[in-house]
Amino acid sequence: MDYLKISISMLIISCLCNISCAQLRVGFYNSSCPRAESIVREVVLKSVPTGRRDGFVSDVFEVDLPGPELSISDAAQFFVVKGLTLNDMVALMGAHSVGVAHCGFFQDRLSDFQGSGKPDPTMNPALAARLSRTCGRQSRPLNKDPTVNLDQNTTLTLDNEFYHQVRSRNGILQIDQELALDKSTASLVFRLAANSSLFRQAFAAAMIKLGKVEVLVGKNGEVRKNCRVFNKSARPKTPKRKTH
Ligand code: HEM
Repeated sequence: MDYLKISISMLIISCLCNISCAQLRVGFYNSSCPRAESIVREVVLKSVPTGRRDGFVSDVFEVDLPGPELSISDAAQFFVVKGLTLNDMVALMGAHSVGVAHCGFFQDRLSDFQGSGKPDPTMNPALAARLSRTCGRQSRPLNKDPTVNLDQNTTLTLDNEFYHQVRSRNGILQIDQELALDKSTASLVFRLAANSSLFRQAFAAAMIKLGKVEVLVGKNGEVRKNCRVFNKSARPKTPKRKTH
């Protein structure tokens, strides 16, 4: 199961290719990561080539990623500076319909939210109670932190269920929940929840754009033969821990 989650996550995040790696092709990971390929293809209806170059290091302290506590407008800025729109961000967040989050990323929502002495009022109380049982009250290092599914319903399917979940106040991350509440994103969340074809189209289009952001070229990084591991010949001597 972990294998599948990691494969899906890595494929979603890093698989798409642009002209600078045009030697690659549709179905590049068909044999090495068949389940991840097929899950993504269920959503991405267009023929999208896979096999974007990956770097050799992915370290939580080196990446420039938005945090789950950001407001929608602050998070959107991370996307806008890369040439993506607010609507692209909303569509891409549908990727949170698979995979997990460590308790530490949403623990503050479960009790004494913003000093209120209570859980985050935007979280379904039944969900807050359930998550509290899994996570407890203690903060821990990331590698010892329990995880929970980001999508409480169709956990292993990349689909528009994520949008139903956040509209039902079952968003795990604060930013996921905010998508359904913020007036700049709520109507698109509503439409994506109501129309799975629209989600597929919007997600595919945004993934193609995301795949063209800051592509590694030349000798930087490598195209992985197997989507979840370094190629043997290029494996760095001291690889750092992989993170989201
Ligand atoms: C504002 C933007 C985003 C924020 C704040 C965010 C935040 C997070 C956080 C905190 C986690 C949990 C990580 C962990 O506990 O290890 C997570 C997981 C995940 N995110 Fe995002 N994310 C964002 C955008 C995206 C995008 C654009 C994609 C892909 C298109 C994506 C795909 C995923 C996936 C697949 C997982 C599950 C990883 C796993 O199971 O190991 N996220 N995200």
